[in-house]
Amino acid sequence: MFKKLFKRNSNMGQSFSHEGEDLVMGEAIPTHIAIIMDGNGRWAKKRALPRVAGHHEGMQTVRKITRCACDLGIKVLTLYAFSTENWKRPKSEVEFLMRLPEQFLNSFLPELMERNIRVEMIGVMETLPDYTQRALKNAMKATKNNTGLVLNFAMNYGGRAEIVMAMQQLMKDVEAGTLTIDEISEQHISQYVMTAHLPEPDLLIRTSGEVRISNFMLWQLAYTEFWFTDTHWPDFNEASLKEAILVYQNRNRRFGGLKGEGTN
Ligand code: IPE
Ligand code: IPE
Ligand code: MG
Repeated sequence: MFKKLFKRNSNMGQSFSHEGEDLVMGEAIPTHIAIIMDGNGRWAKKRALPRVAGHHEGMQTVRKITRCACDLGIKVLTLYAFSTENWKRPKSEVEFLMRLPEQFLNSFLPELMERNIRVEMIGVMETLPDYTQRALKNAMKATKNNTGLVLNFAMNYGGRAEIVMAMQQLMKDVEAGTLTIDEISEQHISQYVMTAHLPEPDLLIRTSGEVRISNFMLWQLAYTEFWFTDTHWPDFNEASLKEAILVYQNRNRRFGGLKGEGTN
């Protein structure tokens, strides 16, 4: 019945807001949602503002979506905040982006504590500026015993770099004689990627119209459901997240099996 109602709504192009909320709560909520937060620059350009104004506004969206994910009972929210390729951008923009964790976490930390949210990070910490490292490490330390939503920032993260690192770890085990080449399995690789302790994403959202994954979670997205929207990240809101979840709830995940055998 839920599915029928959703389909009717989507055919009529109506907004989901009210009914949407009930529908989202009526079916399985994805455990792990990963988001490629794209379109800050385009949002700013449309308003004749500098690109960094878009990043600042995007940070407000991070707050909004974190609260909403927490209220919906999502267990893990992974947000792609800075890729290993984003270093190619102008120095001033990179610096602005590197300052955002400090700004975001300093003001948001009390609420994260109140909401029992745990901050985590995937990516390479060591090559981030000191102030970025400090902000992330402080927040991770302060929230490490929290048991609610895991707010996982992908910062200085690249999917290929992550796989290379996992391979290096595996080769070290082979060299040390604790693993043979023939024993290497998918489980071993899963143990060495940065999300080893987390479930794989159920739903991937990318905002702002690009239909690519831009080196994000290459290993983990093998059976993730994808949802793309033209909305720029600063305009993404609670209703957008619920719309994505509704679409997810109406997908049939088969994992290579036959129709109806999936978890949804
Ligand atoms: C996403 O917005 C933020 C980061 C990649 C850091 P963009 O800055 O990529 O915005 P567009 O794609 O140029 O509009
Ligand atoms: C992906 O967005 C990275 C983040 C959202 C942090 P980009 O804007 O960097 O991706 P491309 O360059 O359009 O592929
Ligand atoms: Mg972009």
